[in-house]
Amino acid sequence: MVLGIESSCDETAAAVVRDGVVLSSVVASQVRLHAEYGGVVPELATREHLRNLVPVVREALVLAGVVAGEVEVVVATRGPGLPAALASGYAAAQGFAMALGVPLMGIHHHEAHLYSPWIEGEPGRAAWEKLVPNLSLIVSGGHTMLVKVEGFGRHRVLGSTLDDAAGECFDKVAKLLGLGYPGGPEVDRMAEEGAGGAMLFPRPMLHEPGDDFSFSGLKTSVRTYLGRHPEVREDMARARAVCAEVREAVVETLVGKTLRAARRERVSCVTASGGVSCNRALRRDLAAGCSRAGMEFRAARPEYCTDNAAMAALLGERQWREGYKADEPGLEVLPGWGLDALRVGWEHNFRANR
Ligand code: KG4
Ligand code: ZN
Repeated sequence: MVLGIESSCDETAAAVVRDGVVLSSVVASQVRLHAEYGGVVPELATREHLRNLVPVVREALVLAGVVAGEVEVVVATRGPGLPAALASGYAAAQGFAMALGVPLMGIHHHEAHLYSPWIEGEPGRAAWEKLVPNLSLIVSGGHTMLVKVEGFGRHRVLGSTLDDAAGECFDKVAKLLGLGYPGGPEVDRMAEEGAGGAMLFPRPMLHEPGDDFSFSGLKTSVRTYLGRHPEVREDMARARAVCAEVREAVVETLVGKTLRAARRERVSCVTASGGVSCNRALRRDLAAGCSRAGMEFRAARPEYCTDNAAMAALLGERQWREGYKADEPGLEVLPGWGLDALRVGWEHNFRANR
């Protein structure tokens, strides 16, 4: 019986899993709290985590029908993320593990995202037996990265964003257009009804060699365009068209670079996870591109796309079974933990943890 806790950004989450099956997954989103500021305010996020952590854990236990004493392993996100937000969840997890006398597994948040597309069915189950080498696109408000996954615990970052993440770009464009926060879902919804097709905005770094991304230039060109055409903000049809143009630019870039890397790395499967992978056009175009290239495509289910503790608990449970070393008491969180610091096997993981 594994209890997982996730608090790397603005969701306070807890989950209970057993034998790869999700028994409960509770997420207290702070979206409304941060909406007023148009972005995550770290200080507020931490205070909210502190308020929500124990009730969220209690709810996860109740929904799973287990009592605290049945928990055999505690898993918590150790990094990367907002320092104080991480620390609040990780310290709570240390406390639970100590009180229960069970091991604590500190996991890497991006590694949890990497395997989230393999959670299938209802109740969710980690289909570890189906895991094949794949090219994984992680796209969220904080990250845009391409990772080659050879197998469990074996992965290599091929590229990441040099500046803004794709989700950040959507959020900033939404703010420029006076839409709500978070902007990604709003822009996505508007884009579904927008004209598009005019190639108004650049496809950043699409035709350059390498697997890195850059989205700050795209945001700037939207700002310049809106400066020249202030009337767009008052005209719903034109605002929708701008959303469609932005979404096309982001999606074409993500899909083009992902498929190119997948072909080059000779993988038969592409996966997508992170908040932005909820984007309808991104899912459609990645699925279509993979189907044309004869590759399997797996996107995380929406509830496992955005931050959640089920993916953390499933990863921690597998690591524990594989004999990874548990975190010693007194370890600190790793806000800038790089995915490449994790290498094959627990020994390397153990060293990277110091
Ligand atoms: O993974 P996530 O919940 O949090 C982190 O950033 O770690 O991702 C949130 C991001 C936000 O930037 C949000 O605007 C974006 O995901 N997002 C979307 C969509 N749904 C969420 N972006 C584009 N289209 C969507 N449908
Ligand atoms: Zn995340």
